[in-house]
Amino acid sequence: MLVMVCANFTQLFSQEPLLANAYNRPSHSLNGEWKYIVDPYETGFYNFHSIQYDKSDNPGTGAYYTNSKPITKSDLIEYDFDLSDSIRVPGDWNTQKERLFYYEGTVWYKRSFDYTKTKTANRVFLYFEAINYRADVYLNGKKLGVHIGGFTPFNFEATDLLQANDNFLTVKVDNKRKGDGVPALNTDWWNYGGITRDVKLIETPAQIIQDYSIQLDPTNASQLQGFVKIAGPNARGTLVRIKIPELTLDKEIVTDSIGSAAFHFTSHKIQYWSNRNPYLYAVTINTQEDTVIDQIGFRSIKTSGPNILLNGEKVYLRGICIHEENVLRGGRAYSLEDAQQLLTWAKELGCNYVRLAHYPHNEHMVRLADKMGMLVWEENPVYWTILFENEATYQNAQNQLAEVIARDKNRASVIIWSMANETPLSEARNQFLRRLITKARQLDPTRLISAALLQNNFNGNVNIKTIDDPVADAVDVISFNQYLGWYDGLPKKCRDVTWKFLQNKPVLMSEFGGDAKQGFHADSLTRFSEEYQEYLYRETLNMIKKIPQLQGFSPWILVDFRSPRRNLPGIQDGWNRKGLISSEGVKKKAYYVLKNYYGELASKK
Ligand code: GCU
Repeated sequence: MLVMVCANFTQLFSQEPLLANAYNRPSHSLNGEWKYIVDPYETGFYNFHSIQYDKSDNPGTGAYYTNSKPITKSDLIEYDFDLSDSIRVPGDWNTQKERLFYYEGTVWYKRSFDYTKTKTANRVFLYFEAINYRADVYLNGKKLGVHIGGFTPFNFEATDLLQANDNFLTVKVDNKRKGDGVPALNTDWWNYGGITRDVKLIETPAQIIQDYSIQLDPTNASQLQGFVKIAGPNARGTLVRIKIPELTLDKEIVTDSIGSAAFHFTSHKIQYWSNRNPYLYAVTINTQEDTVIDQIGFRSIKTSGPNILLNGEKVYLRGICIHEENVLRGGRAYSLEDAQQLLTWAKELGCNYVRLAHYPHNEHMVRLADKMGMLVWEENPVYWTILFENEATYQNAQNQLAEVIARDKNRASVIIWSMANETPLSEARNQFLRRLITKARQLDPTRLISAALLQNNFNGNVNIKTIDDPVADAVDVISFNQYLGWYDGLPKKCRDVTWKFLQNKPVLMSEFGGDAKQGFHADSLTRFSEEYQEYLYRETLNMIKKIPQLQGFSPWILVDFRSPRRNLPGIQDGWNRKGLISSEGVKKKAYYVLKNYYGELASKK
């Protein structure tokens, strides 16, 4: 049993507390063309005896992050960013550079820029929306820190290192899969590497509004509650003003000895956020030095026995699963336009809910879902076989969970935090997930906790399926993936199976589906034909209609997506074809089966 305990976890996650609401803060974008060097042997990171350059005070010119240049004609330098090729940021390298399509390793990125501090600025932060998978970040040859995890934001303070001209920001990006990683070695999605989301420079005053939360009080629908955290000089005893003009709320609070202040306000005219009325309030929080503006919806999300209640009303989740890919451009989705494409497709399908699989998507997705009234399941990438016995792996998973909660805790659309997907049963896995669930509840007691669990035969009867996962007692919502008709028998098998749920909790079917190559037509028993997929959907939906405890489902998946695990020539060719929409954006026959059913459900409301 491998139990690798890192003596000091901060060495793994040396990034600083996340700047809240970076999305709305004024910033200077560092997106665009960056220079890059492919470094499979990490020559720019280790010397020839595998000593890490940045562990020594004088690393020498061989360390790529020093961006060294020959001074005399005799000097030996074996790299040069400025003579190297360029690559777009944000964006994965796999779909930008054909020679990097399958590449898993280190790529160095370098961006030069001049910087003139605006007169009101006192501090400067470098904010990265996501880098997959490990990022070692350097500014002007000095190490800012390390971040691990491919789907959550992080920032480093750069105030004292910036100069007026020729700053150079170098980032070592390593997307190698790791056995002790989160996710680990095996995923059914493409391992897109790179600076996959936006990079920006954020200026702030000396004293900042570091963090805040404003939510509807889960116990009182006429009360808003939350906290504000001030960081920097004189954080204690700071006067903080919170304004929500449409509620004629304009309150002042004072921070305590650690710069925090909790508050609650009463208002009898709150318009609750819902998928039918996604009402967002303009919220301004300011101190003498700093101001943040946000758009926040107020709603309650609870369970009551087998029901999910949105603002006290039972809600049925008409969902779909989504991977973070823009198949029309190719590669990782990262922009507002990408989010609009994906969520519009989901809306047109008749969805009121999306399962963002299997990792936190870019912030545009949840901000747009807030505006569109789309309910959201966000998932921590604890996927399949993780090294559950390994403490550093747990710390990694917990850190990524904390980062997505820090980023999205004010998003009304997010109703479910999912801890994991299809993880194999073991005592170590049960403990790992229970710890994660406890942590999630500490960080955010207002949302529902779930995980995509595995289903099982009830008392050994193959025709009665149940969820007897030990972790089912710790989640609020029981969710399970099932593949009757694809991995388990043929679609007609749905007629033989009944479902028995032992818990008095809401149940979601978080996945079902089958592959179809768009345009391949045959009879309904010919695997990979559109007709087979259509048949599978019809049979599954008929089965779903007979599961009274089900409070919703999210078929797998909205759009075909790249996966190295799918290699049937002429059909898959490196794509998982379970999409209802093809990799060319064409709707398949099963799309209309689901659209029709969701239309029926919506009309019954
Ligand atoms: C699994 C898994 C997905 C995978 C899908 C499939 O349930 O959760 O990530 O892509 O099945 O096999 O297509």
